[in-house]
Amino acid sequence: MDLGIKGKVALVAAASKGLGKASALELAREGARVVIAARGEEDLMAAADEIRGATGAEVLPVRADVTALADIEALVRAAQDAFGDVDILVNNAGGPRPGTFTDMSDEDWLAALNLNLMSTVRLTRLVLQGMQQRGWGRIINLTSISVKQPLPNIILSNAARSAVVAMAKTLALQVAADGITVNNVCPGTILTDRVRSLVANTAQQQGITQEEALAAMQADIPAGRIGRPEELAALVAFLASDRAAYITGATIQVDGGVYRGLL
Ligand SMILES: NC(=O)c1ccc[n+]([C@@H]2O[C@H](COP(=O)([O-])OP(=O)(O)OC[C@H]3O[C@@H](n4cnc5c(N)ncnc54)[C@H](OP(=O)(O)O)[C@@H]3O)[C@@H](O)[C@H]2O)c1
Repeated sequence: MDLGIKGKVALVAAASKGLGKASALELAREGARVVIAARGEEDLMAAADEIRGATGAEVLPVRADVTALADIEALVRAAQDAFGDVDILVNNAGGPRPGTFTDMSDEDWLAALNLNLMSTVRLTRLVLQGMQQRGWGRIINLTSISVKQPLPNIILSNAARSAVVAMAKTLALQVAADGITVNNVCPGTILTDRVRSLVANTAQQQGITQEEALAAMQADIPAGRIGRPEELAALVAFLASDRAAYITGATIQVDGGVYRGLL
């Protein structure tokens, strides 16, 4: 299937590793010119080389912390200077600190909203007008299955990501007639460095092997296995495509069947 995004400009935030990198790689495979951002220079350059090597696409790595407004502004400017206005925006960031309601101070709440909600608001704001002028745009927010089924012990993530979904749904309706779609993708458990370190920590805490910790994690997944980053990236690329022009305001899980609700 030709996704119809050859030559489009895609900006993927938090993309030196994991889900962001996999999404950038898939968009590059489809012929998009890709801007990737993250804080750590070394991984970012390595990711850019990897994506170029695998796809032959133009890739611009830009060092940026999505919690800093100045970095976000410089990131969008760099994308525009190199490739032109952004057609496809993939919002992504790290996760807020884990813990329960009573563990969290005002500062923790504000930091979580800054990390997950405000990074999405600010990046979207900077690219939206250009998309409206061109009558074409794709905004895809990487969130978590926790927006459909809140997970214990990560109250900040549950709340901040749900705010992203509410914002996205509202915006989707506002800009639908401008040829812009806004959707959310919700990973269940996908094997990235983040999940590998979670498995290692669990194994250490429980005095079991990493294989045993991984098996316990997989036992709760109807598909019987943890997902692969490219399985999430495939949905991101489809939502970014011309083919997905009529899908907007949707919140779609990629979770091997973990979410038990009907909708
Ligand atoms: N993997 C899963 O199963 C899963 C499930 C549900 C939700 N999620 C969420 O999905 C997101 C991505 O997860 P992942 O598994 O891909 O994690 P990962 O493998 O650890 O990759 C995270 C990426 O985000 C970048 N990053 C983190 N904080 C950033 C910031 N402030 N500014 C710019 N870049 C930043 C990291 O680079 P630098 O550190 O160098 O900046 C790295 O490139 C996270 O929010 C995670 O909580 C993941």
